[in-house]
Amino acid sequence: MTLNPSSARAFAERPALMLRAEDVRKTFTLHGQGGIGIEALAGVSLDVERGECVVLVGPSGAGKSTFLRCLYGNYLASGGTIAIRDDALPQQHLAITGAEPHDVLRLRRNVVGYVSQFLRVIPRVSTLDIVAAPLVARGVDEDEAREQAAQLLARLNVPQRLWPLAPATFSGGEQQRVNIARGLIAQHRVLLLDEPTASLDAENRAVVAQLIVEARERGAAIVGVFHDEDTRERVATRVLTLAAPRAPIGLQAGMETHAVA
Ligand SMILES: Nc1ncnc2c1ncn2[C@@H]1O[C@H](COP(=O)(O)OP(=O)(O)OP(=O)(O)O)[C@@H](O)[C@H]1O
Ligand SMILES: [Mg+2]
Repeated sequence: MTLNPSSARAFAERPALMLRAEDVRKTFTLHGQGGIGIEALAGVSLDVERGECVVLVGPSGAGKSTFLRCLYGNYLASGGTIAIRDDALPQQHLAITGAEPHDVLRLRRNVVGYVSQFLRVIPRVSTLDIVAAPLVARGVDEDEAREQAAQLLARLNVPQRLWPLAPATFSGGEQQRVNIARGLIAQHRVLLLDEPTASLDAENRAVVAQLIVEARERGAAIVGVFHDEDTRERVATRVLTLAAPRAPIGLQAGMETHAVA
């Protein structure tokens, strides 16, 4: 799907515009369960500029994570369009709804970072290398990348004795801090954060909030979900409320209905 002409122009006319989502819809079809359709997003629109941090709020199941995954190109939206600024292209944006996989991968390397609640552990790779990897992928010298990784891990209070180890055996909070370091190290211009502080104590939550504020102040455009009010208040420049989910659609007569959590 390409953008409508006025949205395509917006990326040329508004240099601060980093991300535009228009009427994004997502329905999941549960094929194994009678083809029930779950409407997770019912038309979400959002512009995000440099230096903004838009915090998504809404009840569990409102589609916050789904929206972030659509923005990252993990889920293909069922309707609507999503575009992200991409200076590598003549039109200065990539419509990720309908983009070629190699364009999406380039955008992830250079522009868009995503931090989820859980670290995807890579067996046998050291913590230091896991955190340094996004810089190395961009061609930064390995020693320089490891040096930056070390600085970030130290700021996040990950003990130095853990840096040579693979994080598979780390505690939930340690893994989460490794994940945040990996997500923030490359200073992406667009950051998508899905509850990056869920397993952290108050002290480490404050460190992460500070790192997010620093990213925002250097001009990153951020969309995030934060479970605690404290972090929300520290990082948010704007709040977008997603509505509670609707009842399942496409139910056949005689089928039992049940709440959608
Ligand atoms: N891969 C999937 N397949 C089927 N349904 C899904 C899938 N991912 C999400 N859903 C459904 O979409 C709806 C929105 O889920 P989502 O995880 O986006 O909510 P959320 O707002 O992030 O909730 P929470 O605050 O609990 O994290 C839910 O009803 C969920 O069951
Ligand atoms: Mg979620």
